[in-house]
Amino acid sequence: MAPYLNMPIRKIAISTGGGDAPGLNAVIRAATLSAIQRGWEVYGVRDGFHGFLLPEQYPNGGLIPLTRERVSGITHLGGTILGTSNRNNPLRYPIQLPDGTIEEVDRTDEIVRAFRLHHIDALITVGGDGSLAIAEVLAKKGLRLISVPKTIDNDLDKTDVTFGFDTAVGFATEALDRLHSTAASHGRVMVVEVMGRYAGWIALHAGVAGSADAILIPEHPYDIHKVIDKIKERDARGNKFTIVVVAEGAVPVGGHTSVVEREKGKAERLGGVGEKVEAEIHAISGKETRLVVLGHLLRGGSPTSFDRLTALRFGAAAVRGLEEGQGGVMVALDPPHVRYVPIEEAIGKMKMVPMNSDIVLTAQDLGISFG
Ligand code: F6P
Repeated sequence: MAPYLNMPIRKIAISTGGGDAPGLNAVIRAATLSAIQRGWEVYGVRDGFHGFLLPEQYPNGGLIPLTRERVSGITHLGGTILGTSNRNNPLRYPIQLPDGTIEEVDRTDEIVRAFRLHHIDALITVGGDGSLAIAEVLAKKGLRLISVPKTIDNDLDKTDVTFGFDTAVGFATEALDRLHSTAASHGRVMVVEVMGRYAGWIALHAGVAGSADAILIPEHPYDIHKVIDKIKERDARGNKFTIVVVAEGAVPVGGHTSVVEREKGKAERLGGVGEKVEAEIHAISGKETRLVVLGHLLRGGSPTSFDRLTALRFGAAAVRGLEEGQGGVMVALDPPHVRYVPIEEAIGKMKMVPMNSDIVLTAQDLGISFG
C-alpha cells in the first residue's frame, strides 16, 4: 500500500463526471454524511473538473462546501447538484492552435496540483468509463481516490449493475406499456429507440419486461427482413401491431453504428438507427410505422428505490474504503456485497449482453425476434 494511503484524512472532495444518471445525488448525500460523521470536511467539485481547468470561470476551483443542510432532501432527485460534463476530457483536452486546428493535450497534472493547492486529502469521483479512465491516471499520479461507477447503460464491467439502469429500464418499460394501446388501436408498427451506447442492456431488459415483439441490440447485428417476418407472422395471427425496441448502438448485418456527432475530446454521440429501422420497415412492409426516441428522458426523473439504495451503498462504501486505506479502486456491487476492484481492471473491457444469457433465452422462448 502506498504510504500516503495511511495518512489521516481531514478534507475530501466529491466530483460527478460524464452523463448524469438517477442516483448521483444519493451518492453525494451518502458520501457527505459518512464523511461528516468521521469529522472530515467535504467539498463538491462543480461540473466535473471544469473548475480546476477553467479557474477564471470558477471561483475557488469550483469547490463548494457540502454540509448536512446542503445534502438534505436530495436522495430522490434526478441529476446531480454538483453539475457534470462529458466534454473537455482532461486526458484529451482540446486546445485550438493559432492555425485553427485542434490539438488534444493531457491536463491531469493541473488537476493533481489543484488538489494539493486546496489541501484536499482524497477524492471520490463518480462516473462512467470516461471518468474512470481519468481517475486511473489521477490515482497513478498520486491522488488518493476511490471511484463510484455510474451509468444508465449498465456497460461497466466488474460491477453487477450500475445505479441509474433500473430507473431507465423502468421508464422505458412504462413507455412500451403506453405505446401498446395506441399501436394496437391503429394497427401500426411502433419503433422505440433507447439509449445504451454500444451495449443492449436497456433495450433487452425493457423490451422483455415491456412485451416487445422485436429487440435489436448491438451484440447481435440485425437483419431487417427477420423483423419484417415477425411483423408478417403477427399480422397473420390477427395481431396487426408490432412493437420494435432498438438500442441506439444496434447495427445491421454488414453495416455500422449510427453516429450523429463526432467531436474531439468527446465520446461519439450515437443516434439515428431508429429512423433507419422505421423507414426500412415502412418501405418493405408498407405498414404505417412510427418512431419514438426516448433519448434523455431515460436519464431523468427520480431514481427507483433499487437505484437509490445502490447509490447510497456506493457512496458510504467509498468513504469506508478511504478510511480503510483503499486507493485507485472502484466500488462494485457483487451481491450481496459491495467490494473494491482496481480501476484498471474495471476499465479493461465493456460489459456486453451475452447472447446466451438467461434473459436472452427467455426472450427467445417468448418468441421475441432479435432480427
Ligand atoms: O452513457 C450514457 C448515455 O446516456 C448514453 O446512453 C448516450 O449514448 C450518451 O450518454 C448521450 O450523451 P450526451 O449527454 O452527450 O447526449
